[in-house]
Amino acid sequence: MEPHLADMRGHYRGRAAMVCYPQSTAEVATVVAICADAGVPIVPQGGNTGLCGGATPFDEDAILLNLRRMNRIRAIDPLNDAITVEAGCILAEIQRAADDADRLFPLSLGSEGSCQIGGNLSTNAGGNAVLRYGMARDLVLGLEVVLPDGRVLDDLSALRKDNTGYNLRHLFMGAEGTLGIITAATLKLFSKPRSLETAFVAVRDPHAAIRLLARAKAGSGDTVVAFELIGRAPLDMVLRHIPGAHDPLRGRHDWYVLMELAGGDLGSALRDRLEDVLASAAEDGDVADAAFADSVQQRQAMWKLRESITEAQRSEGGSIKHDVSVPVSVVADFIAEATAACVAALPGLRVVPFGHAGDGNIHFNLSQPADLPKQGPERDAFMARWQEFNDIVHGIVARHGGSISAEHGIGLLKRDELTRYKSPVALEVMRTLKQALDPRGIMNPGKVI
Ligand code: MLT
Ligand code: ZN
Repeated sequence: MEPHLADMRGHYRGRAAMVCYPQSTAEVATVVAICADAGVPIVPQGGNTGLCGGATPFDEDAILLNLRRMNRIRAIDPLNDAITVEAGCILAEIQRAADDADRLFPLSLGSEGSCQIGGNLSTNAGGNAVLRYGMARDLVLGLEVVLPDGRVLDDLSALRKDNTGYNLRHLFMGAEGTLGIITAATLKLFSKPRSLETAFVAVRDPHAAIRLLARAKAGSGDTVVAFELIGRAPLDMVLRHIPGAHDPLRGRHDWYVLMELAGGDLGSALRDRLEDVLASAAEDGDVADAAFADSVQQRQAMWKLRESITEAQRSEGGSIKHDVSVPVSVVADFIAEATAACVAALPGLRVVPFGHAGDGNIHFNLSQPADLPKQGPERDAFMARWQEFNDIVHGIVARHGGSISAEHGIGLLKRDELTRYKSPVALEVMRTLKQALDPRGIMNPGKVI
């Protein structure tokens, strides 16, 4: 049971009575029906890569239901641009299956080699391509869900148009297993881009980055797929801790953007457009330098820099994370204000800002001061200031009309914080839905609401 009881960050350690590995929807339904009868709590779990404790069980009577054996691709229909998969499929395997059929499944995130689609959908994961393709929920045509009483809701539609009343599937995405267990999904596929350009760009500051985004969208016929902002601190951490990582640029800069354009045409047109965009941004002083990926390996190396930040930050001791979003137009103001306020509260604090700036989602993470020991009471004292920094950062987010959870979900970590930032009416509606679907409160108790 051991690997299932702790979360990836080592932040939570729970307990449970047993772990079940059902192999079919019928088996999930049977387990849930037995638990519903007996009033036994169930905690669903996928790849256990979540960052908010949503998949950790905290009750010694709980059943942990891990979906990893439900890992079949049930069907793929390239002409309908759809694939039907079971909840335990690893995200990278779905990407591969789509690729084998000459299609694209665009959901992409750092943990794609081990996260499962059921968890991605339950938490409505975001990732690196939201700018173009939307969040996980936007990629779903139909769902199969085991309800808290053991009934199976078969809504595995592969239709793009179906206006027959309430849209039930969206209830279960973002519910993090509190309303039922997603057992399968029909997902949207897309055409594979025929050309792809990736650049690692040094920008003057976040304001310059956001201007570059607008310039790139307008100047490239809306082909920007990814636009990731990386501060100097997270890049330094990756260069320090990740074997083989190296800075693609010669000089030292304070801010970077990893940007990717994907287009429908073949040939060099996209590179030309990207070069033009960067040249005009450089003339205005927004861009200081840039490196282009000239091979698949170079592209992978650039993405590795970005995707290793979480791991690298772990090696720097305690970190207080904020997964927040604001309108794209105020991303730079948010970063400036939150940085000033946090550093004023704790001089020496290392602000580690990075993230999906193209969709307004910043990971505004805070690492303990460099001179503190990475383990022991001083680290613990830093981590104990979590709520104080939440108040600072979330206060600024709220003032800008943002969200306290852009893409990681609520789980346990943000459950109480949610009650402070979500409208009372929205919380009442959420509680009404929970009560209606799960009156005995057995589904992932204590999470989300
Ligand atoms: C990422 O985009 O790398 C993760 O969502 C951020 C994190 O681990 O804080
Ligand atoms: Zn992220």
